[in-house]
Amino acid sequence: MPKSFYITTPIYYVNDRPHIGHASTTVWADVQARYRRMLGAKTLFLTGLDEHGMKVQQAAEKRGVSPQQHCDEMAPHFQSLWKTLNISNNAFIRTTDSHHKKVVQDFLSKLHAAGQIYKKKYHGWYSRAAEQFVTEKEMVDGKFPAHLGEVIELEEENYFFKMSAHQEWLIDYIKKNPEWIRPENRRNEVLGTLQRPLEDLCISRPKARLAWGIPIPFDPEYVTYVWVDALVNYISAIGYGEDRFNECWPADYHLIAKDILTTHCVYWPTMLHAVGLEMPRCILAHGWWLFRDEKMSKTLGNIVNPLNLIGRFGADAVRYFICRELQLGTDTDFSEERFLQRFNADLANDLGNLVNRSLSMLQRYRDGVVPEAGGEEKFDEELKQSINETYGAYRSAMDQVKYGLALESVWKLVTRGNRYVDENAPWKLAKEATASKRLDTVLNHLVNTVAHLARFIAPFMPSIASKIESQLLTPGLLDKRNERLEVFYVGALTAEFFQVIPTGHKIGKPEPLFPRQAKE
Ligand code: MSP
Repeated sequence: MPKSFYITTPIYYVNDRPHIGHASTTVWADVQARYRRMLGAKTLFLTGLDEHGMKVQQAAEKRGVSPQQHCDEMAPHFQSLWKTLNISNNAFIRTTDSHHKKVVQDFLSKLHAAGQIYKKKYHGWYSRAAEQFVTEKEMVDGKFPAHLGEVIELEEENYFFKMSAHQEWLIDYIKKNPEWIRPENRRNEVLGTLQRPLEDLCISRPKARLAWGIPIPFDPEYVTYVWVDALVNYISAIGYGEDRFNECWPADYHLIAKDILTTHCVYWPTMLHAVGLEMPRCILAHGWWLFRDEKMSKTLGNIVNPLNLIGRFGADAVRYFICRELQLGTDTDFSEERFLQRFNADLANDLGNLVNRSLSMLQRYRDGVVPEAGGEEKFDEELKQSINETYGAYRSAMDQVKYGLALESVWKLVTRGNRYVDENAPWKLAKEATASKRLDTVLNHLVNTVAHLARFIAPFMPSIASKIESQLLTPGLLDKRNERLEVFYVGALTAEFFQVIPTGHKIGKPEPLFPRQAKE
């Protein structure tokens, strides 16, 4: 049986409600999952919640409730946001699930039995916000960076994983697999970290200091370090230790942002290597949303609530903005003006207008019935050429999770379509008795261009795509296993593939897709 395409997001801390940063990685993963399904791949898309650890324990204490109650009350905020955002995950994990706890314990026992764990006394600095021991090397101008929050001095006896023993192997693996950590600047960052000797990883916390965690199976006085617990979610959710595990592992993509690069590119691979598991195929870290030049984060309290944006602009517009603006290699400033600009220009004006005027003219001039196309002229060839190019550019950008590029290529086609309308001026053709055949061709080409566009945008804006599908009255146009999607695999756009909507088909009533928004 072919392996399923398997994609993950980080599992988010439940110390607070989700913000636009969490929504962004989840949307990125969703777009990829929808794209793979569109290509016919069996796809497992996992997201979930990281519910143990100090942060969550403290958040619960602050609210005067038990940690479990706190988690149970926070989880619905995430789940309902994913629903509102049309997230199509088909697996959801909470680290307090009993199955997950058991797998974490099995995993630790395996590491222990393999001689990969030992106990020692440790003295050092600890960041509560990152739930990590940090070193003085991370200080800038004598201070720890703001996103680490409060950093305290600590002395403790703990269990350690022999991470340092895997350093040479890891460096070699990264060098031999240039596409493994993406983008390249992040890969270089990891290689840079690995130039210094790796320290062993503290994988336990004394119960006396932190009670809210998974007990270490070989010592009841300790709980598991939250990052070890959390990373194991990627295998516990797909049945590690059972036959079904091999249907999904190795993961095709672990999507993260750059803040959790070390945990995913150093801790996780060395842990997997230590128990002899295959590596995930790609760890892809996008940049951060900044807010007035600082990382947007709960710790810093400068967050944008996605629900406000969704309320005003709709989930699809938010999804579009996240994919169009958030970058792989660099950080992006989040600005509402920019959002409004994109909404009015790209969505309402370019895409919305093309779809609406194409369908309206077909209604007005041909009663909504798709006419037969005739002799090809220069403009027609150019339009088809543009669709053909879009397929190629879109396919390769999507395969690599380069959404900015994929959308750029689609919007080139949107622009081309709008130009095609202006070049052919159907309203003029409609007035000339001798131009009737030409008008047929133009209307046919426009409605088919709209159908192709609906498919291109479907992973990004699933509701808008299905609105187009219903205005076209073409159920099945966006079907996951629609054979016509095979067009992705052919080099040239043949007439057969161009003509998505058959001649004689009657479309429905056009409605505006994006009502224009003024600044509040
Ligand atoms: N619980 C850990 C992850 C464990 S994964 C095995 C954690 N949780 S978190 O709630 O802090 O989420 C971090 C992730 O949220 C980032 O890696 C990123 O995916 C997303 N984002 C949080 N803030 C962000 C920005 N300001 N910008 C973009 N994405 C951000 O770390």
